[in-house]
Amino acid sequence: MTKTDQAVVITGGTSGIGLATAGLLHEQGVSVMVTGRTEESVARARTQLPAEVIVTRADAASVEDNTRVAREAEAAFGSLTGAFLNAGIMESAPVESMSEDTWERLFAINAKGPFFALQKLLPLMGEGASVVFTVGIGARRGMPGGSAAAGSRGALLTMIPSLAVELAPRGIRVNAVSPGPIDTPILAKSGMGPEQIAAVKQSFADALPLRRMGRPEEVAETVAFLLSQRSSFITGEDILVGGGAGLNV
Ligand SMILES: NC(=O)c1ccc[n+]([C@@H]2O[C@H](COP(=O)([O-])OP(=O)(O)OC[C@H]3O[C@@H](n4cnc5c(N)ncnc54)[C@H](OP(=O)(O)O)[C@@H]3O)[C@@H](O)[C@H]2O)c1
Repeated sequence: MTKTDQAVVITGGTSGIGLATAGLLHEQGVSVMVTGRTEESVARARTQLPAEVIVTRADAASVEDNTRVAREAEAAFGSLTGAFLNAGIMESAPVESMSEDTWERLFAINAKGPFFALQKLLPLMGEGASVVFTVGIGARRGMPGGSAAAGSRGALLTMIPSLAVELAPRGIRVNAVSPGPIDTPILAKSGMGPEQIAAVKQSFADALPLRRMGRPEEVAETVAFLLSQRSSFITGEDILVGGGAGLNV
């Protein structure tokens, strides 16, 4: 690994796609700070990631925590060349049984959180910086029970063009990556039992042209590209990493 002068904050970097991205960026010589929600995932990530990667606990939905993360990043790195605003949750329920609490939580973590994370991290970013949000295939394709989660993802997706246009004069690019079905711990966190998870995974794999779920590392490659200067003329886009999801007639 050759150390570069790049420094990136990853929210939701203690598991799944964020964890894989942290590992890949570190391998590429980038200085990395990751956040996670629970003590357990933060402690686990500290053992899974190289010691140089900073792991901190922060609630992605809290503006106060986002402010603290920015202060910690400034203390550690001085400035940032990028941010991967990836923390998010999946909770599904038919429209009749969706609770107001779940609706509020989905929008607080998946839509409000990344917006304010960007607001707090922006002072650390200058010309050449790159911001990547995680949106998700659910913002564009339907799934029974997925409407509220899709709304929170769609809210984030619709912010991308305006943010890209607003920050372009400062030389800051803003893009999104949209994972299709990726095999991560996210389903287990949504309250499903092991048998239900196995059935959902199988149905995802069967429905995809590539006949399998994706791996977190496959999303990480796209994120690393978008965060790097190799994508220097791409802004305002949402790249789907979805194994052909939605192409079947
Ligand atoms: N996997 C998929 O198929 C898929 C598809 C579409 C979109 N996505 C999106 O991709 C992103 C990454 O998902 P993943 O599959 O890698 O899931 P994951 O393994 O559950 O990872 C999610 C990460 O976000 C963190 N997080 C969740 N809520 C948080 C909060 N309130 N504050 C701080 N951190 C929080 C988690 O921390 P803890 O571990 O402590 O909870 C974890 O580090 C999410 O935004 C997800 O919605 C995933």
